[in-house]
Amino acid sequence: MRVGVIGAGLMGREVASAFGRWFALLDCPVRPELVAVCDTNPAALDWFRRVPGVAHFDTDARVLLARTDVDVVYVAVPHDAHESLYTEVLRSGKDLFAEKPFGIDLAAARRLRDLSAQLGRFVRVSSEFPFLPGAQRAHRLAASGALGRIIGVRCAFLHSSDLDPDKPINWKRQSAHCGEAGVMNDLGLHVAHLPLRLGWRPSRVHAQLQKLYHTRPDGRGGRAPCDTWDNAVLNASFEAAGEAVPLTLEMKRMAPGETNTWIFEVTGTDHGVRFSTKEPKTLWTFRRAKEQLWERTDLGFDMPFKAITGGIFEPGFPDILMQMWAAFLAERAGLLGGRFGCATPDEAVAQHEIWAAALESQREQSVVVLPPPAP
Ligand SMILES: NC(=O)c1ccc[n+]([C@@H]2O[C@H](COP(=O)([O-])OP(=O)(O)OC[C@H]3O[C@@H](n4cnc5c(N)ncnc54)[C@H](O)[C@@H]3O)[C@@H](O)[C@H]2O)c1
Repeated sequence: MRVGVIGAGLMGREVASAFGRWFALLDCPVRPELVAVCDTNPAALDWFRRVPGVAHFDTDARVLLARTDVDVVYVAVPHDAHESLYTEVLRSGKDLFAEKPFGIDLAAARRLRDLSAQLGRFVRVSSEFPFLPGAQRAHRLAASGALGRIIGVRCAFLHSSDLDPDKPINWKRQSAHCGEAGVMNDLGLHVAHLPLRLGWRPSRVHAQLQKLYHTRPDGRGGRAPCDTWDNAVLNASFEAAGEAVPLTLEMKRMAPGETNTWIFEVTGTDHGVRFSTKEPKTLWTFRRAKEQLWERTDLGFDMPFKAITGGIFEPGFPDILMQMWAAFLAERAGLLGGRFGCATPDEAVAQHEIWAAALESQREQSVVVLPPPAP
């Protein structure tokens, strides 16, 4: 599968690296080849000259999209450029692997979802954490019904690099580029993906949003406004068996002590499950018994797509990025074979519905009731 990348920054390079060791996968039915890269900043293209197979280095996305030797396009650009570029990809006749949050806001996400459906393009959205072995096990357990009646769900994604007040401003800290939802646009799909996949769509949301530093160094000796929400704690609930179940969604750029901590925890009346990237090889499970007991399972490299990596070794970020891409390419070819699939445009729209409700909740200092999803 011949892939073009638009946006040669952090994520564009990670994808090139994932493709570069594709031979480590043993049972992925599709092999991607990075053939073209595009960035409006020509200097960003330079790193890609070390990547074997890249034949085209473009500074205009329309040039890349006109190329007949590109089948699928991955777009990793600031959020304010999502809608126009994703639309151009879809209209060019190519399939799209989109970055989150899939448009800068709910209205953009809905337009993109509708356009991809209307044009019949295969579109998925990047969210890699569910591909970790611990997350896969937790998801399977939660989906199996074995937990009993669900008591509560906590999903979190926690960073702390923004605690440094001298960290210079970048586009992710400016509403015009990141979107009004701020940290929810940045980290939100990572926390919402599994609950949405499990059908746990919130019906009520109360949000506490925080802006902690209002300016940052602008890199030219002055200060620039930093106007996005830094931290978001959403106390939500979803309906299960006619009852409201508490669901906490936490997204923080300022969580002291946390580097890239992704947490998924579900407790039920019969069993519970807890996984955190803080302990990447550990799955905690609870079972109701006379004693209160959380059991710890040491996990290995039990990935959806098999790899040469020994079964006892620990996976990391580059591994789950490969797994996510393998799922995208296999599903596009109709060969996913029951494995976990990437986030869909409907799921991306559903997360934006939650963030829109959270913004309203913060504005009105209220609990916001989400309308049921449109049929
Ligand atoms: N899935 C993940 O774990 C993850 C992690 C980080 C970022 N992201 C997402 O990836 C996307 C990009 O983030 P990043 O951290 O790679 O950003 P980045 O700032 O490192 O890179 C973005 C690149 O896009 C280029 N660009 C901007 N407008 C363009 C245009 N019109 N045409 C071509 N190139 C253009 C910029 O010059 C820059 O090189 C965002 O949507 C972000 O939310 C996802």
